[in-house]
Amino acid sequence: MIFVKSEEEIALMRESNAIVRDCLKFVGERIGAGMTTKDVDALVENFIRASGAEPSCLGYCGYPASACVSVNETVVHGIPSAEQVLREGDIVSVDLCAYKNGFHGDGARTFRIGKVSEEKEKLIRVTEECFFKAIEGLKADTPLYDIGYRVQQHAEANGFSVIRAYTGHGIGREMHEDPAVPNVGHRGTGVRLKAGTVICIEPMIAAGTFRVKVLPDGWTAVTLDGRPAAHYENTVVIREDGVEILTL
Ligand code: MF3
Ligand code: CO
Repeated sequence: MIFVKSEEEIALMRESNAIVRDCLKFVGERIGAGMTTKDVDALVENFIRASGAEPSCLGYCGYPASACVSVNETVVHGIPSAEQVLREGDIVSVDLCAYKNGFHGDGARTFRIGKVSEEKEKLIRVTEECFFKAIEGLKADTPLYDIGYRVQQHAEANGFSVIRAYTGHGIGREMHEDPAVPNVGHRGTGVRLKAGTVICIEPMIAAGTFRVKVLPDGWTAVTLDGRPAAHYENTVVIREDGVEILTL
């Protein structure tokens, strides 16, 4: 069932999501060549705990870390490792969730390590643009799959493909609530969103194939062709006249 949050609940979600927003900024200012993905996870865990929140990902379905740190061809759910060193030219998607006062916040960014290839630059830019295309005109009464339609149009117009195996989602007292929010779809279809519903819109876009496989660790999702992917996620409240973005 798709929840509609009260203004009191939304105020609490604003707080959890502000921690996510600030943590992503904090990581973006520090991430760099020579760090391990485990170092990135430590930054995230320390920041979230220092903010009086808990990292929602840690222990979620057995997930062993506070952040998902996904390098290059890893699309999502990269498990941080002390063996994986970031190098100039890598792109790194950092996805994190914070739980405070009974509510979760969720957001992701893809960061550049030093100078990256033109293709990776464009991939990051287009993935971010996909989010902003998705929220263009989004408001109460918009059909849910308009979101995926807009993401898909923009990604494919730029020669990229949309990951289908993972979706955005509702969020609140649980990290994943209804509805699933696919990044592909047909305009004018799906339930009509209501004011007060809170969802995560998270385009995951690949330079090559949208097909992925999960590594034997049970989490790490990589593109089948080994080409890079990017991820950009914000938590948004559907309003009568638009959206309120909680993680920007
Ligand atoms: N933050 C992710 C999302 O956008 C979920 C991470 S899965 C976990 O939905 F296991 F790491 F928590
Ligand atoms: Co999410």
